Amino acid sequence: MTYKIKFVDPGKNYQMIQTEIDAAYREVMEKGDLILRGQLKRFEENLAAFVGTKYAVGLNSGYDALHISMIIAGIKPGDEVIVPAHTFLATASAVVNAGGTPVLVDVARDYNIDVSRIEEKITSRTKAIIPVHLNGRPADMEKIMALAKKHKLLVVEDACQSLGASFQGKRVGSFGLTGCWSFYPFKILGGYGDGGAITTNDPEAARKASLLRYNGEDRETGEYHYHGFTCLLDNLQAAFLEVKLRHLSRWIERRRAIAAQYLAGLSGIPGLILPHFADPRMEEVFQNYVIRTSRRDALFEHLKAAGVETLIHWLKPYYAHRALGMEGQRFPETELISREVISLPMNVEIGDEEVDYVIESVRSFFKLKAESSKLKNSLKKNT
Ligand SMILES: Cc1ncc(COP(=O)(O)O)c(C=O)c1O
Repeated sequence: MTYKIKFVDPGKNYQMIQTEIDAAYREVMEKGDLILRGQLKRFEENLAAFVGTKYAVGLNSGYDALHISMIIAGIKPGDEVIVPAHTFLATASAVVNAGGTPVLVDVARDYNIDVSRIEEKITSRTKAIIPVHLNGRPADMEKIMALAKKHKLLVVEDACQSLGASFQGKRVGSFGLTGCWSFYPFKILGGYGDGGAITTNDPEAARKASLLRYNGEDRETGEYHYHGFTCLLDNLQAAFLEVKLRHLSRWIERRRAIAAQYLAGLSGIPGLILPHFADPRMEEVFQNYVIRTSRRDALFEHLKAAGVETLIHWLKPYYAHRALGMEGQRFPETELISREVISLPMNVEIGDEEVDYVIESVRSFFKLKAESSKLKNSLKKNT
């Protein structure tokens, strides 16, 4: 189906920066710089500077960043790692694939891990916490870092959805042992395919990640140090991401402006919850603009008919998928979220008029519903 307003529009985004992307492509192709070359190094340096860490290591995906972080953290069979119940499956899969056990904690109304529920899940086997900064909003790093210190736990940040967000003036992805990033095309900094990275201030973590991503091999000596993987960030993707990183601060401002436009246009609709949770400690980047209503499925259909593409993250909590063997646990907020949330188009490709069109489409849904229930009431009165 062709949508009038797409959820994201990578083709249009390319047109916005075509000259720079084409120049980056030509540089890589003409030099034949394909694996572990200058473009990757340059991107890593600039990413680290953006996040405020000493190092960044480019990887193939956000999943790889999480998995390698679990290995660096020394997670082994029997170790427990605290993760939110409401996140993308990759957060938990990284723990499982490193041999550990994810221990789930429900989220709060702002969709991030409920910090008041973490301590009750800590046991003598707990080794780490993975806070997820979901939808572009930081988790409460003040409480999480204090708990980690108290219980001597490592913190690995799943920052895949929050590049550029800050907590108490410090960028997310710079608090824990590592920050994990995804450059999947729909992300704030999206490549033209898969991509990811870790950021860290720990030289040993950076060294280990650099070795693990390339079969454990030290490329200078040829020595194998670990049984590793092949999960590098391609040089070509790094060159493209480097171009986009130059635009990122401006693009984040644009996302904040769109969020403000949605807030102004959608405030005060009974039964509709908007993603604005005042907390002066946080600066958000609005990776997703998630709205919430008990009439979610009908709203989804209404917007689809109006030509507005929306996404639902996620229709079913990951732990409820039978094949994963994690069912039998209940997380009320996560379950309610899976029934109520819907994400509106949020990207730097859309203009103010298109955002207004989305607002009008959402408003018309609620007006129709209000009128039909008014009609029902008057019919009831008349019978
Ligand atoms: C919160 C979160 N964690 C991890 C990932 C995994 O990233 P990737 O798709 O690059 O492997 C994603 C990507 O959707 C994500 O949103």
